[in-house]
Amino acid sequence: MEEHLTVGRVAELAGVSVRTLHYYDEIGLVRPAERTAAGYRTYSPGDVERLREVLAYRRLGFGLSEIADLVGDVSTDPIAHLRRLRGLLVARRDQTDAMVAAIDRELEARAKGVTVSPQEQLGMFGARLYDTIGSAYTSTRRTDPRIAAQIWAGLGDARTVLNVGAGTGSYEPYDRDVTAVEPSAVMRAQRPAGSAPCVAAAAERLPFADQSFDAAMAVSTVHHWRDPIGGLREMRRVARRVVVLTFDACEPGWRDRFWLTRDYLPEFGDLLADFPSLAAMAEPIGAVAEPVPIPWDCTDGLFEAYWRRPRAYLEDHVRRAVSTWTRVGQEVEHRAVRSLRDDLASGRWAERNGDLAGLEATDLGLRLLIA
Ligand SMILES: C[S@@+](CC[C@H](N)C(=O)[O-])C[C@H]1O[C@@H](n2cnc3c(N)ncnc32)[C@H](O)[C@@H]1O
Repeated sequence: MEEHLTVGRVAELAGVSVRTLHYYDEIGLVRPAERTAAGYRTYSPGDVERLREVLAYRRLGFGLSEIADLVGDVSTDPIAHLRRLRGLLVARRDQTDAMVAAIDRELEARAKGVTVSPQEQLGMFGARLYDTIGSAYTSTRRTDPRIAAQIWAGLGDARTVLNVGAGTGSYEPYDRDVTAVEPSAVMRAQRPAGSAPCVAAAAERLPFADQSFDAAMAVSTVHHWRDPIGGLREMRRVARRVVVLTFDACEPGWRDRFWLTRDYLPEFGDLLADFPSLAAMAEPIGAVAEPVPIPWDCTDGLFEAYWRRPRAYLEDHVRRAVSTWTRVGQEVEHRAVRSLRDDLASGRWAERNGDLAGLEATDLGLRLLIA
């Protein structure tokens, strides 16, 4: 027989007050349905499971109405809830670790009498985005063979290759002599054993002599650089050939064509406000641009990857591996996901996007710059 627990016992085990439990009951968040012979409410295993979710989301800082939406979502089973909670907790832990590390660095600097600039002080909140979100990366961000073939063709016959903003090493060619550059410690730590040597540095200041590589490549990273044009010039300085996978921020057509940015996340446009146009990036390095179509079953979970698989965007681990979702903020993210979930359930998404069903690949603004 299932064990049922009294309100007092549940409060004791969970470390919350009986009053809190009564309140959750009153507002319908966790409503134990069973009664003892004396008429007291008791919690079934199912009620306890739901309460555990509520308390965990509460601890993560969600408001009660948001929690009601999250736990009331009938399309999410207990395992999916646990996965989502785990992803959120790991992201929180990484964020805390990054802040502690930043404070340690500042304490060390101050102990030595070094002045810490306002930029460095504020850096702990945002600049090291990939130290915060990086641990989710490897779950979905894997080399897509078709995009890789296009990048590797762009490298021509280069034997020595510098991979700038290398992350965990996706798209590094196996048959060439690769050196990686990656500023985030969290990303460097996830590079598989045996992968190319990796230098802790940023694109804007590459610690290499002029023309020391046959080619320099950069994949899905330029939009994170403090100074994209400066970084591209650095690549041009250290290598004879430059290959960059980026996107055309100034051609709004694809943003309107891509249902995710058009119908659910228009805020994406704001993130691109300061990002240079494709022409402004191509000109200083003398590059030409070619479109990079995204296959319908793209294995690299980049932002646009799931254009024909909309349900993937409901998955927390999918979103956590793409910085856009962290950068728009939790409120916007939850609104967009809720609205997509509703449209998928009601059939509205399928109605609007029926034309995608037969497409093998599509152009969503990804471009390969080759110089
Ligand atoms: C979306 S990931 C791409 C990683 C890898 N190139 C790939 O395709 O999987 C972006 C990477 O750029 C790195 N990054 C951020 N700012 C950078 C900078 N100024 N210079 C070089 N890399 C940077 C991040 O730490 C992160 O690893």
